[in-house]
Amino acid sequence: MAAPSFSESLRARTWASHGDSEGAGFMRDLMTGEGTREDYVALAAQHYFVYDALEHDIDRVANDPIAREFLTDRLTRMPPLTADLEFLIGPDWRSQVRPLPATVRYTERIRELATGWPGGFVAHHYTRYLGDLSGGRAIHRRMRKLFGFDLDGVRFYVFDQIPDPAAFKAGYRERLDAAAWSEDERERVIDEVLSAYRFNIEVFEDLQAAKTPAAV
Ligand code: HEM
Repeated sequence: MAAPSFSESLRARTWASHGDSEGAGFMRDLMTGEGTREDYVALAAQHYFVYDALEHDIDRVANDPIAREFLTDRLTRMPPLTADLEFLIGPDWRSQVRPLPATVRYTERIRELATGWPGGFVAHHYTRYLGDLSGGRAIHRRMRKLFGFDLDGVRFYVFDQIPDPAAFKAGYRERLDAAAWSEDERERVIDEVLSAYRFNIEVFEDLQAAKTPAAV
């Protein structure tokens, strides 16, 4: 049997952590209908800080010949995300959103990698965007159904420039396999993906802790 490709190893070695983030209490409640619209808005607000870190300094990452291969405007989430926040919170949304402590740590790490280690940046890029193109689709459907959104409020989950997510993800995995990383660097990328999942879990934990108690 052929040895697994890098993208297969990456997925296999991080899939348990994927399950932990998918199954985090906050996310599970949101998906099962136990969460509220406010919870969904609180998550969207944290996304704002994460995608600002991923997309604001992208030009620096684009200087790296390997990392550049993964970057495309077709993934850019900031315009749909800010449109969602304006719809969900109102025109003054910027003054209403704050990063939670885990989000601060997460975004500091992404910014550090954007300037210091492009391979590590790719690890975070992979974890968020391939996730958005995968489970994001299920989250989109669920939020529409639960909270009655049409397109406003859930634009973040709509990649209108990626009509075939499966094909896009296959291409992304090919680029992961083709990246001229040493064995050692590939190991470090896998570790960084594990750490990206941990950051996401910690954001869910902070969101859970910050929940407004239900009125009794
Ligand atoms: C309700 C929550 C979630 C659901 C239902 C879900 C579901 C899925 C599914 C079904 C796939 C496989 C798609 C495929 O094979 O093409 C997938 C892949 C993926 N998900 Fe999630 N997911 C969730 C949350 C997350 C979170 C929170 C993250 C990280 C921030 C994430 C990151 C990823 C990544 C990186 C992949 C691609 C793995 C690979 O093929 O290399 N997911 N997700």
